[in-house]
Amino acid sequence: MEMIAEWSRLSDPTPRVFDYWRETKKELGQMINADPDQVGFAYNTSHGLSLAAAGIDFRKGDEIILSDVEFPANTYPWTNLRAKGVEVKFIRSTDRHFDIDIFEKAITKKTKLFSVSYIQFFNGYRNDIQKLGEICKERNIFYIVDGIQGMGNVPIDVQECHIDLLASGAHKWLLSPVGCGFFYLNENPKIEVKQGFAGWFGVDWKEDWTNLIRHDLKPRKSVERLSLSAIPYLQMYAMRNSVKLINSIGVDRIYEHNLSLLDKLIDYLETSKYYKMASSTEIQHRSSIFSFTCPDPKGLYKFLVNKKIIPSLREGLIRISADFYNHPEQIDFLCQALDEYSRSAE
Ligand SMILES: Cc1ncc(COP(=O)(O)O)c(C=O)c1O
Repeated sequence: MEMIAEWSRLSDPTPRVFDYWRETKKELGQMINADPDQVGFAYNTSHGLSLAAAGIDFRKGDEIILSDVEFPANTYPWTNLRAKGVEVKFIRSTDRHFDIDIFEKAITKKTKLFSVSYIQFFNGYRNDIQKLGEICKERNIFYIVDGIQGMGNVPIDVQECHIDLLASGAHKWLLSPVGCGFFYLNENPKIEVKQGFAGWFGVDWKEDWTNLIRHDLKPRKSVERLSLSAIPYLQMYAMRNSVKLINSIGVDRIYEHNLSLLDKLIDYLETSKYYKMASSTEIQHRSSIFSFTCPDPKGLYKFLVNKKIIPSLREGLIRISADFYNHPEQIDFLCQALDEYSRSAE
């Protein structure tokens, strides 16, 4: 509404839209420690991942490594390349956690790309994306991180982690509407990412929209060369505001807060014989998600929803997500409900 009111007062709102987009890139860049020029708009995570799937020159025999517990957004863009003769290898996880030793053993001379989630969607396992980045750097493997479950709630530094491409929708922890997100592309990626699709925003109009019958412009030098056309400005404006809000609080502080909320849940679960923890309690592998199970997770899910506690039911687990707007009393309420359910089941 704020934006619509402002635009209605302007004779030409277009320049203001680009100011907002520049600001959004700056805020996103600050969140991930990247230059704003390396940040581009994406409709969702899949869009960002697909820029690499469509823009890298894959040849027959090239190998891609994925985890066997990946979210499907991070598998279909890659399995689609089998039609070009690319071999996609799903490596075995250990206890449903990504296993770095198995990954290292799976690498061959043909391994061209590796794509992994920062935070595993169903159990919140935080992958050691820095160590993985170092391995990929040493072995010259294009390294992609699907950031969606960690963005805005677990710190990330794309430079320290040697990430070639980071993709994330903004409709989860970035508290934005569906239809917006972003990608980061390293200034010197291990492999060139060409324009798999080419759109008219991928060339530089210098924000002059008065002479558009020009069909000979060259792709932009920045990552904006991968842009298609007009972005959903209302969604982008919402993303600008939420990323600004999150940055003003600080992702480090948010992560600390979320961990302390989930500590309370872990303390409760540790005392229970009925529930079984499924998430790692090792600090380096923790995130803002914690999952557990019981003999009847579907029944428990319904019971919690009836009490207006909304977890997710994923892969047989009850997934609890805690964020900066949650407070300890809500976790107490959850633990009381869990206690009531386990007693009624005994
Ligand atoms: C790890 C992970 N990646 C990606 C997505 C979603 O992908 P997209 O933004 O393309 O819908 C999700 C959840 O919806 C997820 O948990």
